[in-house]
Order: sequence, then structure tokens, then C-alpha cells
Amino acid sequence: MLLDDTDRVLITKEQLAARVAELGKQISADYAGKTPVLVCTLKGAFTFFADLTRAIDVPITTDFVAASSYGSGAVSGGSVQLRKDLDHSILGRDVIIVEDIIDTGITLQALADVMQARKPNSLRICCCLDKPSRRRNGLKADYVGFEIPNEFVVGYGLDYNELYRNLDAVYVLKHSIYE
Ligand code: PRP
Repeated sequence: MLLDDTDRVLITKEQLAARVAELGKQISADYAGKTPVLVCTLKGAFTFFADLTRAIDVPITTDFVAASSYGSGAVSGGSVQLRKDLDHSILGRDVIIVEDIIDTGITLQALADVMQARKPNSLRICCCLDKPSRRRNGLKADYVGFEIPNEFVVGYGLDYNELYRNLDAVYVLKHSIYE
């Protein structure tokens, strides 16, 4: 079983659902009267994105981008590649980048710089999980689901070697799997 590769659950599906509902309410209030574009950072954010967008009750549009600073292993390579760009212009738009996890912050800083250069009206970041102890720059998200300790987490969209994304909550992966 997939769950046998995990040590323990870090954030349950009930906790995720409750926090996503709160974030959706907060974003809906903050963007009242506006039509923000929510940008999903593939692949890890796909599950959080699907839940978050449905918790927002102002009109939104969606777009998708893929930026990767990691290979197939567990350690950041440091360089950032844009593997899939947005489909639509964000000029003058209110943009919310939706990310699954911020670790060093390198990926998101690079992505935010690219987006900012396209002159949106505003740019904010919403992340499901934040590991502030790992940050290598001053990046801060505007909306944070959960601050988590420096554990190797999988599930709810997050992978190790492309596996475990379909686990329905956030789990700590067993050391023996990636060591
Ligand atoms: C993960 C995550 C962030 C990034 C965070 O993506 O989705 O984009 O790493 O790390 P950082 O803050 O140290 O830059 P990953 O490259 O694993 O791709 P994936 O979303 O397709 O799994």
C-alpha cells in the first residue's frame, strides 16, 4: 500500500478542508468586485488549486504554469526552468500565484519576478504549505495554509519521484524511501 511508505500524517484531510475554506473566504473578501486570475503552478499545486478555486465565490479565471527547480530527487538544484508558460496575458490583471509548497523560495521568487515583469495590476502568492526554516531569500506568501517543520512531505499533490501525489492528506515520507 502507498501509505506503508509514510511515517505519519502531518495534516489531515479535515484540517486541509477547513483551512482551504478559510483561505477561500479570505480571498473572496479581499477581491470583492474584482476578477482575479489564479495561476496554478504545476504539478504539485493541482490538488490544492482544485479545492481552493471552488472555495472562492468571486468570479475568477484560471491559468497554469510549470516552473521547476528540482530534478527527480529530494534536493533543490538551485536553477529554475519555465517548462510551461501561461496561456493568457496578465497585463493589468490581479494575479494570485497558487503554490503547493515554499521551501527555499527560489522557484517562487523566480516565477514572481517573471510575472511582475508582465505588469499585472497586483500580484499575490497563496501557498498551501510553508517551510520558513528552509528559506534562502526574503520571500513571503500573502496567504499561507500551514507552516510546517522541515520534514519530507508527500500527498495532496506533492510527490517524491512523481509518486504519492494522490494521497488525500499531507504525510511525512519514511526516510528509507529517499535515503
Ligand atoms: C516544488 C514546489 C515548488 C518548489 C518549492 O516543485 O511545487 O514549486 O518545489 O521549492 P523551493 O521553494 O525550494 O523553490 P517541484 O519542482 O518539486 O515540481 P512539482 O510541483 O511538479 O512536483
